[in-house]
Amino acid sequence: MFSRRGFLTAAGAAGVLAELPVRGDALVPDMMELRATVKAVQLLPSDYPKTEIWGYSDGTPGPEIRVPQGGRVQRRFVNDLPQASTVHWHGIRAANSMDGVAGLTQAPVQPRGSFDYDFTVRDAGTYWYHAHNRSVEQVARGLHGPLIVDEKAPLDIDRDVTLVLDDWLLEPDGGQLNPDFETRRDRSHAGRLGNFISTNGQSAWARTVKRHERLRLRLINASNARIFLLALVNFEGWVMALDGMPLPAPKTVSGDLLLCPGQRADLLVDVTAGDGEEAFLARIEDNQGYAQAAFPVRGVSSSARRGSPAPLPPNPAMQVTGLNAARELRLDMAGGAMGSLRSAVLNGQNTGFQRMVEANQFWAFNGTVGMTQTPLATVARGETVRVTVSNDTAFPHAMHLHGMHFRTVNADGLMGHLRDTLLSFAGESHEIAFVADNPGDWAFHCHMLSHAASGMMTWIRVQ
Ligand code: C2O
Ligand code: CU
Repeated sequence: MFSRRGFLTAAGAAGVLAELPVRGDALVPDMMELRATVKAVQLLPSDYPKTEIWGYSDGTPGPEIRVPQGGRVQRRFVNDLPQASTVHWHGIRAANSMDGVAGLTQAPVQPRGSFDYDFTVRDAGTYWYHAHNRSVEQVARGLHGPLIVDEKAPLDIDRDVTLVLDDWLLEPDGGQLNPDFETRRDRSHAGRLGNFISTNGQSAWARTVKRHERLRLRLINASNARIFLLALVNFEGWVMALDGMPLPAPKTVSGDLLLCPGQRADLLVDVTAGDGEEAFLARIEDNQGYAQAAFPVRGVSSSARRGSPAPLPPNPAMQVTGLNAARELRLDMAGGAMGSLRSAVLNGQNTGFQRMVEANQFWAFNGTVGMTQTPLATVARGETVRVTVSNDTAFPHAMHLHGMHFRTVNADGLMGHLRDTLLSFAGESHEIAFVADNPGDWAFHCHMLSHAASGMMTWIRVQ
């Protein structure tokens, strides 16, 4: 089933994959490595022991991969883990063969194996990469990092700051990861929520700034299941982009900002605090604010405060047109604790709730649990697709579509922002629309990774 020919076909410019590539051969001799390893890092404050994590190269998050818009990402993924793995480039419109979804776009890379990822990036913005085999365990262990694509013209800012937010479930003694990634409770409820929150792999991340400086904050939610509620303290700012894609007009941050697993937000913020004070990106929990990232203010910028920013340049070919003639799909989410799975189908069989629980599966899309041989839909290349996503469960979900960004279609018929991950609260229904302009087999799943592992995973074929 797997062959070198499959990879070579896929590596060509075009192509729907006939076979899954089993490994990347060394087509580029000195490709830079992205090595996944087991490592002990100082996640907790320094008076605690180190925590054993799985990370890329230096630890967790992995190294920031940064390329100019239109540039090429080339990395030889080398697997030094005790498990097979892959790398997925979340939010990137790349060729399907480079999407890194084990079992769908490539075979998992075995321990001591390697795979060459090589693709061109069309879109500027804030993206991220993460493991996409046994993600519920591998991402929780730390296998993720930022992928930043710079706009053609530099912005008028003083600092560009990437903030990767993560949530860890640690054992009460010793600070090691809780090794049970498959508990029924996590899977059937809100997912693997942690007891320790980090920014850029640190317990108390801070950066010194000056009053009146303008910062670009690139927020990435890399956690398994935590929805971050964020606010600015002693900053004035604007949301410039969501999930990598620029807003047509910068939106003043007034109040809270929600970021579900997989989502990103690009902010521009001006330091309004005085010399000797401190500005924060705060996390709100139970009406309390916590410092998610601290910015002690030392000194005053020599230049005056800037005016409101101009929008970021839009990324190419992002129009969602043809809504009236669109292909209409439904995605009905059901199951979970306090939900119903009565008529759901597992592996082609209607097995009843008891069997479902025994298989540790709790969620269904349109009555079907988990990955199936056939896609949710096969759509023609270029076709406009509308999907009504209904959350008939007692929990929030974070639906992520690979390969293409979508827009929400609001009740008034207007289109919402481009996104690659949709936050859907219990009882909500959303309509999303996208143009299926990227051929291949694209995963469509909940980014609450315990949910993805227990039923909330499907795919769409574009041909
Ligand atoms: Cu960010 Cu299918 O994942
Ligand atoms: Cu979910």
